[in-house]
Amino acid sequence: MPKVLISDALSDQAVAIFRDRGIEVDFQPALGKDPARLAEIIGDYDGLAVRSATKATAEIIARASNLKVIGRAGIGVDNIDLAAASSRGIVVMNTPFGNSITTAEHAIAMMFALARQIPAANASTHAGKWEKSRFMGVEITGKTLGVIGCGNIGSVVASRACGLRMKVIAYDPFLSETRARELGVEKIEEVDDLLTRADFVTLHLPKTEKTANLLSRERIAKMKKGARLINCARGGLVDEEAVADAVREGHLAGAAFDVFSVEPAKENVLFGLDNVVVTPHLGAATSEAQENVALQIAEQMSDYLNYGAISNA
Ligand code: MLT
Repeated sequence: MPKVLISDALSDQAVAIFRDRGIEVDFQPALGKDPARLAEIIGDYDGLAVRSATKATAEIIARASNLKVIGRAGIGVDNIDLAAASSRGIVVMNTPFGNSITTAEHAIAMMFALARQIPAANASTHAGKWEKSRFMGVEITGKTLGVIGCGNIGSVVASRACGLRMKVIAYDPFLSETRARELGVEKIEEVDDLLTRADFVTLHLPKTEKTANLLSRERIAKMKKGARLINCARGGLVDEEAVADAVREGHLAGAAFDVFSVEPAKENVLFGLDNVVVTPHLGAATSEAQENVALQIAEQMSDYLNYGAISNA
């Protein structure tokens, strides 16, 4: 009977799915934060199911003598050493669709939070200040939203934004003109053109060698004066120091970040700045999304271990 270790907090239903499909499952959600213990026991398992706390490093993978598959309940596989896994013939799979809506909704929530300064107004009102004239906002309607990366998540953001009566422009080398028309967005060929036109910019692309520091200091300087930037994608896509400077100098009216170059982010250059909204990587944190990704990864990993069927690898 194949044996799977779940080393992060996955929904209980994932455990049930593995068991229903004849897989022995060991649910140890605290192990993701205990790499030494994980390294000790990983050799016993055929499958490893993780969210983001577990770091499947080369050292862990080197100890995984029986491992056949690593499943990431979520989209990003940046917590898994892909080269180490593939050199040992270990298949790495993710769930690219299960949390798209949830993450898109977080980006839209961040946009509203910025436009109406809701977090600061909330803190002030709780403090009994009633600062009615301090929190002047801007409307979303009629503004231009620049979506960088218009795949599973970016396309949901784009369609929600169209529903909010925004003008949506999108940069994504993989976006066809036909798909752009279906979504009701204008396809932009160069990132810089999007940056000079957008009132709000939102990022929805993975961090790779090509996309790291995509929004460099030079590019941030090209953003429209008074624009607002939202990053619910990955830390490291944006020069955080440059964003902090741009907000302090008033070049950007605000920024909302859910992801950071170093996580967990206990400190960051953006923390404590007025007009900066921050959340602790909550993009996929809804009960619906977590259930979706847990079920999907359990199904995919079981299918692989039982029948060799590969999806989303
Ligand atoms: C993902 O990659 O699925 C999201 O960033 C969610 C997460 O890591 O918690």
